[in-house]
Amino acid sequence: MALQCKMGTFDNVVFKPFSLLILILLSFQLHADAVPRLSNFTTFVFGDSLVDAGNNDYIFTLAKADSPPYGIDFKPSGGKPTGRFTNGRTIADIVGQTLGAKSYPPPYLAPNTEAEASLKGINYASGASGIMDRTGFFFIGRIPLGEQVNNFEQSRNYMVNAMGENGTREVLKKAVFSLTIGSNDILNYVQPFLGHEKLFPTTFLDFMISNLTLQLERLHEMGARKLIVVGVGPLGCIPFVRAFNLLPSGKCSSAVNALIRAYNQRLKALLNRLNQEMGPDAIFVFANSYDVFMDILTKYRRFGFENADEPCCGGYFPPFVCFKSGNANTSAPALCEDRSKYVFWDAYHPTEAANVIIAKQLVDGDESVSFPINIRKLYFYNYN
Ligand SMILES: *[C@@H]1O[C@H](CO)[C@@H](O)[C@H](O)[C@H]1NC(C)=O
Ligand SMILES: *[C@@H]1O[C@H](CO)[C@@H](O)[C@H](O)[C@H]1NC(C)=O
Ligand SMILES: *[C@@H]1O[C@H](CO)[C@@H](O)[C@H](O)[C@H]1NC(C)=O
Ligand SMILES: *[C@@H]1O[C@H](CO)[C@@H](O)[C@H](O)[C@H]1NC(C)=O
Repeated sequence: MALQCKMGTFDNVVFKPFSLLILILLSFQLHADAVPRLSNFTTFVFGDSLVDAGNNDYIFTLAKADSPPYGIDFKPSGGKPTGRFTNGRTIADIVGQTLGAKSYPPPYLAPNTEAEASLKGINYASGASGIMDRTGFFFIGRIPLGEQVNNFEQSRNYMVNAMGENGTREVLKKAVFSLTIGSNDILNYVQPFLGHEKLFPTTFLDFMISNLTLQLERLHEMGARKLIVVGVGPLGCIPFVRAFNLLPSGKCSSAVNALIRAYNQRLKALLNRLNQEMGPDAIFVFANSYDVFMDILTKYRRFGFENADEPCCGGYFPPFVCFKSGNANTSAPALCEDRSKYVFWDAYHPTEAANVIIAKQLVDGDESVSFPINIRKLYFYNYN
């Protein structure tokens, strides 16, 4: 607005050297403003511990990343835990940063978050949560996807009060919504002792997809127009699953990975359908984290890693406890020497080093990684 006012005076500019200087300065400013347009990245993050930025620190739960060495490489906190389930930034953090975000969207449950809603977005993700309400029940507290969307509805009400329905719609139309969820549903299903009253696998996957569809439709109804759904990664290869299947290093559970590929296929078909039904006024992007992560695991040396088997923290055998005890002498954390050389941070989660590779692929990768367009194109897409 301010720029438009200044531009309005251009017709009357007398070209004295001094005004020329002002003009040059002004055009620099115009240029700087017009080219990157990066300061206003707004994103709403939904999901599980892969992207939780601290919500679980505010609830009673066994799924918490609130003690060292979690966060040891997270610069904004000076290496203190923030509730992120990794040593540094999550995939969502890195995607935002890559697109020029100046800060990370705060966790919804942190105090005063809603006042910041329209500026940088909000993170609703919760460790141990899933698409299905029941997922993660043995961790006690967690915020299932449906409840995360309820929380977004609250934030939206706040925004409508602050800037009206039309203003809110304008902001949401440009905002990037990401959902990184489904891993815990699958993990719960494949763990024999959790008794998911064993639905037939395809029935279970259909329930996941239909429950997810409901939440995507709710988000669309509330004004989301740029949505990314991250597929489930190859959990058959994470240290936790390999350990309970007694698999030797370098081997993955093919049964678990086959179930995940079947889920991802259904997810991709769902997003294609939604694009046909709701496009071109909304875009649903399928993010193929499975192939990206599998690529890292199989060619880990080419990506600069030295270990794609063992977690950096917590050791290779159950119970995989990754935390620093008060008594440093008896149980110092089993922490690897060079965190940048490990693919896995703990038995479930990638290191920041792996997250960086995944995030960059999702932002700038081709159609085999992000379909139908990558996240950078999604972010810069302009609806009329
Ligand atoms: C909001 O948008 C609608 C449809 O574009 C328009 O009819 C209405 O006047 C707008 N309301 C305000 C308060 O600007
Ligand atoms: C960023 O803000 C500018 C100016 O308000 C706007 O024109 C542009 O569309 C915004 N970009 C995105 C992706 O929201
Ligand atoms: C969600 O999944 C449950 C099974 O847990 C199923 O009974 C229900 O029909 C699903 N909801 C929707 C909207 O598909
Ligand atoms: C740890 O070991 C040091 C030296 O061996 C000792 O002085 C200290 O009291 C020990 N601390 C605890 C908590 O046991």
